[in-house]
Amino acid sequence: MNIVTSLQEWRKIRKNLDKMIGFIPTMGHLHEGHLSLCERAKRETDITVVSIFVNPAQFNETQDFERYPRDLEADRRLLEQAKVDFLLAPSAHEIYPDQYQIQIMETELSQVLEGKFRPGHFNGMLTVVLKLLNLVQADLAYFGEKDYQQLLLIEKMVKAFFLDVQIVACQTVRDQHGLALSSRNARLNAEQKIKAASLHTVLKTTSDLKQAIDALNQIGFKVDYVEEKWQRRLAAVWLDEVRLIDNILLDKKEV
Ligand code: PAJ
Repeated sequence: MNIVTSLQEWRKIRKNLDKMIGFIPTMGHLHEGHLSLCERAKRETDITVVSIFVNPAQFNETQDFERYPRDLEADRRLLEQAKVDFLLAPSAHEIYPDQYQIQIMETELSQVLEGKFRPGHFNGMLTVVLKLLNLVQADLAYFGEKDYQQLLLIEKMVKAFFLDVQIVACQTVRDQHGLALSSRNARLNAEQKIKAASLHTVLKTTSDLKQAIDALNQIGFKVDYVEEKWQRRLAAVWLDEVRLIDNILLDKKEV
């Protein structure tokens, strides 16, 4: 695997690639969820590019940014095993030569759910994804349904800015208890992980939103929201200091 940290070097390399490219943007501390995106890209394209960039602009709390788990060496090993071709790991300095003075803003979808609880988060996310998509110029880019609102916003941006890339939505990967894998789970101990898994159980087994919220409160989560939208039931909750998000597909038609 080729590890590229300089954007100038990457752009030189990119000019000489003329095969089909699959791109997986990440913030690192990789797990099976990320790797499932890599495997799919390996199957569907010729050259796989993964980026690791913990994007300061999308953290609405400095503490969350500082505490975000990082382990580039472990990530490198996993990506080598997955036979990824390029790892792009740029610095914040290079990604934001303008100090984030130019931003992408969406004014509708980004205002609800996560957008309400994490002001500025989606501006930062969309801005960095646009930069990365422009840098990589992939044919296909892979995103997880785990971050469902993020996925919808990226699809909307690609359409609005006529970006020449196909967005591929990938199913959420869970542990054996149903907990959606997430880099932030590294901050949970074994006991908390079991408790965290009941978020998924509650979303699946309760019949209405009030029942879901009551059950989550009972278990000891602090609920930011549970809502039904886009034929999904989506939730964000706090378990002690860790914020968890998840969503499931609803098979009901009238949502
Ligand atoms: P990150 O949380 O590292 O996730 C990178 C990609 O992996 C996203 O598309 C996310 O939806 C997907 N993913 C995470 N957990 C998953 C799981 N359990 N199953 C399936 N896919 C999963 O999302 C981001 O980074 C950032 O916002 C980013 C898009 C890289 C922009 O900074």
